[in-house]
Amino acid sequence: MSAEISVTWIHYVSFMTLFAALVAEHLLTKKPMTALEIRRVTIIDAIYGCAAIVVLATGLMKVFRYGKGAEYYLKAWPFHAKFSIFIVVALLSLYPTIVFLNMRRKSAELTEGGRLTVPPGIKHAIRLELIGILLIPLFATLLARGAGQFE
Ligand code: HEM
Repeated sequence: MSAEISVTWIHYVSFMTLFAALVAEHLLTKKPMTALEIRRVTIIDAIYGCAAIVVLATGLMKVFRYGKGAEYYLKAWPFHAKFSIFIVVALLSLYPTIVFLNMRRKSAELTEGGRLTVPPGIKHAIRLELIGILLIPLFATLLARGAGQFE
C-alpha cells in the first residue's frame, strides 16, 4: 500500500472516529451526572481529541506531501473554509473539555449516588461542533474537484 493511500485511509478513519466520539459524547451528556458517567465522558472526549490530532496531521500531510501540492490548496477557498471550520470546531470543543475535566476532579468528592450538574451550554456547544463537522466533507469534496481556485 502506498504512503498516499495509507495517509488518505487514516484521514478517513480518524474523521469517522472523531464524529462517532462526538455523537457518543452528545448522547452521554446528561444534566445531572454520576462519577462513573463523568469518567466515561472524559474518556470519550480524550478519544475525540486524539482523533482530531490525527485528522489534522493527515490533512497537513495531504496538503504538503501527498496531495495536489500546497499551492493548489492554499489558493482554493474551499480549503480555507474547511480549515477555518475545523479550527472553530476545535476552539468550541475546549469548553466541554474544560468543564468535563473540572467535573471529573470534583466527582472524586461525591458520595455514593451523588451527582454533578452539567452547565446548560454544553449540549449546544457539542451540537454546533457536530454541524461544523458535517459541513467539512462538503468543502473537502469541492476542494478535491478543483472548485474555488483564486490567484
Ligand atoms: C473533521 C475534519 C475533516 C473531515 C471530515 C475531512 C474530510 C475529507 C474528505 C471526505 C476528503 C476526501 C474528498 C474527496 O476526495 O472527495 C478529504 C480530503 C482532504 N482533506 Fe480532509 N477532512 C477533515 C479535516 C482536514 C484538515 C484539518 C485538513 C488540512 C489541514 C484536511 C486536508 C485534506 C486534503 C488536502 C484532502 C485532499 C483533497 C484532494 O483530494 O485534493 N482535511 N478530507
